[in-house]
Amino acid sequence: MTKSASSMNLAIAPGKPPAFRTVVQPVWNCSVLVIPVFENQDQRFVAKNLPPEIAGAVHTAVELHDFEAKAGTILQADGIGGARRLILLGMGKAQDFNADQIRWAGSLLSRHLRKIKVASATFHPAGLERTNWPVLAGALGEGFALGDFKFSVYKTEKKANGIQKDPRDNKPLELIVCCPDQASEKAVEKMLAEKSIITTAANLARRVACHPGNIIRPDSLTAIARTLAAANKLKFSVIDAKAAEKLGMGGLCAVGAGGEAPPALIILEYHPRSAKEKTAKPIAVVGKAVTFDTGGISIKPAADMGAMKYDKCGGMAVLGIMQAVAQLRLPHKVVGLIPTAENTLDSRAYRPGDILRMYNGKTVDVTNTDAEGRLILADAIAYACQKFAPGALIELSTLTGGVVVALGGVFAGLMAGDDTLAANLTAAGQATGERLWRLPLDKAYRKLLDSPHADMVNSGGREAHPIQGGMFLSEFVAQGVPWAHLDIAGVADPKKDDRWWIGDNASGFGVRLVVEYLQRLGA
Ligand code: BES
Ligand code: MN
Ligand code: ZN
Repeated sequence: MTKSASSMNLAIAPGKPPAFRTVVQPVWNCSVLVIPVFENQDQRFVAKNLPPEIAGAVHTAVELHDFEAKAGTILQADGIGGARRLILLGMGKAQDFNADQIRWAGSLLSRHLRKIKVASATFHPAGLERTNWPVLAGALGEGFALGDFKFSVYKTEKKANGIQKDPRDNKPLELIVCCPDQASEKAVEKMLAEKSIITTAANLARRVACHPGNIIRPDSLTAIARTLAAANKLKFSVIDAKAAEKLGMGGLCAVGAGGEAPPALIILEYHPRSAKEKTAKPIAVVGKAVTFDTGGISIKPAADMGAMKYDKCGGMAVLGIMQAVAQLRLPHKVVGLIPTAENTLDSRAYRPGDILRMYNGKTVDVTNTDAEGRLILADAIAYACQKFAPGALIELSTLTGGVVVALGGVFAGLMAGDDTLAANLTAAGQATGERLWRLPLDKAYRKLLDSPHADMVNSGGREAHPIQGGMFLSEFVAQGVPWAHLDIAGVADPKKDDRWWIGDNASGFGVRLVVEYLQRLGA
C-alpha cells in the first residue's frame, strides 16, 4: 500500500525564489553584467546606449565570438570597464521583439548562472528601457524565476564517491535590474514584486505536477491543498467521496471508484478584505486533477502512459492561481474548485456502458472510461454554479489528445460560451505568452454526443473531439454564467518546446494567464 502522507512536506517544499533588486543606472561595477543584443544590430545602437568602454567590450565580444545574437543564445565574455564577466543575451531580430522574447532570455540567464555557479547578475537594458520598461523588466524577472525551476527531489545525492552537492546549487539567485530613473524604478520594483509572487505560484503548480501518481493521489493532494490554504488564509473545504455520493455527484464518484484513495472535490475560497467586494459575485476557477489516468477499463496503450501523471495539471494551476490571488490581495472574490480522482482499473472501477446521474440531474452514457476528465469536471462545474453563482467560470483541464494533435505545445484550446470572456482571456494569454486559440462551440456539434440510452454519451468518438469535450461541459454550466474551457493537454507538459524554462517538466500553464486576467479585471 502506498503511504503517501509522509511525503507531503517534500511535495510542496518550495525552492527558494530569486531575489529581485533594482538600481538607477548606471552600475557598471558589478561581477556579472548582462546586456541584451539584437540580431544584425547596428553597433552604433549599442554605443548610443552604453558608455564607450562597455560598448567597446560588447563590440569586442561580438566580433571575437561571431555572436549572432539569435534568440535563445547566450555569450559569456570577459568584462572590460568594471564588470568581471560580461553576458550577452541574444534577443533575435529587433522587429520580432516582444515581451516573450525577453522572458525567454531571462530564463536562459538564470539557467546559465546556475551552470557557472554564480548567484548574482546585473541586467542593463541598453536601450530597451525606452519602451515600457516596467512590463519588459517584469517579463525578464518572470523568465528568470521560471528558468530557475528544477525538480530533482528524487535524485539521491552522490555520497558514495564523497562528492557532496555544491551548496551554491541551493542558494537563491539574485537579479539586479537597472532602471533609467526613479519613477521607472518604482514601477519596476512593483512589477517585480508581483511577478515574484506569480512565478512562485506557477513553480509551485509545476512542482506538485511533477510528483508521480504514487505520491500525489486524491488524499495527499487534499492535504497539500489544505496546507496551502492555511498558509495563504484561504477558506478550505472538501467534499469527500461519501458527501459526493450523497450530493449525487455521479461523475466524480464513478471515475474515482477504482482508486485506492477515494475521489474528492477540493474547494478553496479567497475573500478580499474590501467591504465593497463582499457582495460581488465571485470568479470560479475549476481545474481537473486526475492524479493518474490509465484510461480505466478503456485502458490506454503502454507507450508514454507515464506522462499521465500530468493529468492533474489543470487542478495544479488552480492551486497556483489561488495562492497568487491571496498573496497579491486582489480585490475580487475568487473560488477554486479541484475535482480529483485516480482513473484506474479495479473490480470497483466504472465501466463502458455504465449510466451515470450527474450532480445537475442529467444522465451520461459512458462510452469510454478514458473520457473521464469531463465527468469529474461536470460535477464540479454544476456544483460551482449552484453554490457560488459565479460572475464568470474558467475551467482548465488536460482534456483531450485531440487538442494536442491540433495545437501542439504552443497554444491551448479555448472554448467559451461568452465572447467578452474569450476576448479577455485571449488578451491575457497574449500578454503572458500563455496563448489561447479559440475553437467553436456550436450546437451543430451537439449531435455527436447523442445517446440512445441517456441524455448524452461522454465520448462520441474522435470527430471534433476537443469540441465534444467543450460541448459536454457546457451541459453543466448554469444558464447565464459566462464560462470558458481551456484544454491545456498540449501545453501542460509540452514535448517539443523551446521555451527554456520548461524542459522536460510541467509548464505551470494557466497560472500566469488566469492571474493576469484577474489583475486586469481590477483596472
Ligand atoms: N487525459 C487525457 C487527455 C490527454 C491526452 C492529455 C494526451 C494529455 C496528453 C484524457 O482523459 C483522455 O484520455 N482523452 C481521450 C478521450 C478519448 C479516448 C475518448 C483522448 O482525447 O484521446
Ligand atoms: Mn483519459
Ligand atoms: Zn485524463
